[in-house]
Amino acid sequence: MSAKTRSSETTPPVAARRRAARLRKEIERHRRLYYVENAPEITDADYDALERELRGLEDRHPSLATPDSPKTTVGGAPAAGLTAVRHGVPMLSLENAYSEDEAREWQARLYRVLEISGEEPLTYATELKIDGLSISLIYEKGELRQGLTRGDGRTGEDVTSNIRTVQSIPQSIKHAPERLEVRGEVFFPLSEFRRLNEQRQEAGLPPFANPRNAAAGSIRLIDPRQTADRRLDGFIYQAVGARGAGFERHSRILERLRNWGFPVNPHGGRCASLEKALEFCREWQRRRNELDYEIDGVVLKLDDLELQEKAGATAKSPRWAMAYKFPSEQVETRVRDIRVQVGRTGALTPVAELEPVGLGGTTISRATLHNEEEVRRKDVRVGDAVIIEKGGEVIPKVVRVLEKERPRGTAPFRMPEQCPVCGSDIFRAEDEVVSRCTGASCPAKLRESVLHFASRRALDIEGLGEALVDQLMQKRRVRDFADLYGLNRDGLSRLDRMGQKSADNLLRQIDKSRRLPLHRLLFGLGIRFVGERTAQQIGRRFGTLDRLQEATQQDLEGVEDVGPRVAASVRAFFAQNSNLKLIERLRSAGLNFTEPQAGAPPASGPFAGKTFVLTGTLDGFTRDEAAELIRTHGGRVSGSVSRKTHYVLAGSAPGSKVKKAQVIGVTLLSERDFRKMLGES
Ligand code: IVH
Repeated sequence: MSAKTRSSETTPPVAARRRAARLRKEIERHRRLYYVENAPEITDADYDALERELRGLEDRHPSLATPDSPKTTVGGAPAAGLTAVRHGVPMLSLENAYSEDEAREWQARLYRVLEISGEEPLTYATELKIDGLSISLIYEKGELRQGLTRGDGRTGEDVTSNIRTVQSIPQSIKHAPERLEVRGEVFFPLSEFRRLNEQRQEAGLPPFANPRNAAAGSIRLIDPRQTADRRLDGFIYQAVGARGAGFERHSRILERLRNWGFPVNPHGGRCASLEKALEFCREWQRRRNELDYEIDGVVLKLDDLELQEKAGATAKSPRWAMAYKFPSEQVETRVRDIRVQVGRTGALTPVAELEPVGLGGTTISRATLHNEEEVRRKDVRVGDAVIIEKGGEVIPKVVRVLEKERPRGTAPFRMPEQCPVCGSDIFRAEDEVVSRCTGASCPAKLRESVLHFASRRALDIEGLGEALVDQLMQKRRVRDFADLYGLNRDGLSRLDRMGQKSADNLLRQIDKSRRLPLHRLLFGLGIRFVGERTAQQIGRRFGTLDRLQEATQQDLEGVEDVGPRVAASVRAFFAQNSNLKLIERLRSAGLNFTEPQAGAPPASGPFAGKTFVLTGTLDGFTRDEAAELIRTHGGRVSGSVSRKTHYVLAGSAPGSKVKKAQVIGVTLLSERDFRKMLGES
């Protein structure tokens, strides 16, 4: 394009330039109020209007656009989505030591590399090893410019907008060098983690397994408003290139970082020998539960920067630092009772009810014992003192029994012969470790099957959690999942903790479930051996429930993923009269019994005629699930962004599609926007 045509098309009038500058300032101020100070002054809609106006101006006069304008940071999303950024200095990881001896071996190697005598003690900076997510922050002229995740160590993701929502991380620092890069860890405070999981459970969403996962998920969300809701925290433990800046000791760098206003962990030490450093490790192994965040060890760093430099690094980790890892946390408690739970398929699981005890920041009152064999092998008895352990999962396990502390008169555990809930006989197949209740209408099985039916990957009835299902079953409003479609507003709003608004929300969710494709229903029915993927294959092959009901063993075995065992189970399901009755009730309730076939989008629905492109990882569904939702609501899914694209649905860590969407001017949707659109349907 020649300079002449360009200027005639784009030179903005003075008024436009002024208005754009003003809007940019306003937007920046409101973003700060919203994301950083948590004190918005205007509604989301008014804020969006400001952004829209500026974007309109920039569209008409491209020369007005600046690199950080809302055109490239649509809806407050991180600049150009979560773009990959190469680290100037790679973010290495640490070598681990799992025992004091391993730590001593590490030091012996260090002596050899440094070529100094083992007599001379080395001084170590000792720091708590925060179990979060490492980040790198770049400040220019004292202003936070960029926040990156570690990524693969060489290339991270730009999460600047999300980092800005972490209150303890300074947006600007005084008297700092021209350019400063610091590194540290963002994490979920335990109190916040508990709050988040309670909220998620109330909303019928699966809880995060641990604070680390929650932190990682939150920092990579595409919509910083969601990150801000999650109140992450952070600690900084490193300044890149500090030795070149005249520092001699790591502990001095930390002091300086603290003076600049960075959150530096207060529990650091400086130890004049490895033995002293190991004492520090022992102390924090004992005290780790005093903290409102999870730590998984202690990091030992040579305090002397000259020695650090001399020790150098391997491709993976520095030789001057080491992570002393704590063993999995264990705690002693007592078994109050062993209860047997009945699952959806009738499987019986023994669960130890424990004296409540703190472990890893949460209170534990139950631990799984898996099955009868496991209880027998460990010989866990009611009244026993036991050691329990928490791995990375939510439910802890019983490691062993302290037999010396066994009270008198205890008896070995025996699996009941009748179902503890309905009294039916228990059956255990010869080749299985699992015992099952044989009662067809066992309330425990019904409860679990309703919960499964309503779960996210089945009929996705958000808000129908355990407490509500229990109430509905106790009050006999619901006996099986077909009854869900007979619930009404009056009946629901008379339940405990259920107002009219929640009742309406739930009814909307139930209504929405009627329109899901057949395979979701197939999965929701809970046919033995029919998981999500098999349900998809079966749904696609037969197209309608009626055709599936007529399918022979041979027809079924012709489907990918379906062998004789699965085929027989499907046939057995449809041979049961009670199941056929259930299906007829679902049909009368208006559930969709068909699978939309690829290439033929329905003509109606909120997404009718709209083309979507998906990128990044979504929080609430897999990409396939989102694609399927779009299709069932009348939309199309395409693999690449073009002028024909209506929406780009971007999860965390999206690819270049976001950039392209911004360039073309395609509307970007966050997961939240997407859900809203679905909810409004
Ligand atoms: S120093 C060259 N100090 O642990 C690596 N790391 O397992 C410098 N971490 O990737 C890391 N607390 O994410 C250091 N006080 C601390 C730390 C810490 C947690 C993490 C960090 C690192 C990982 C290695």
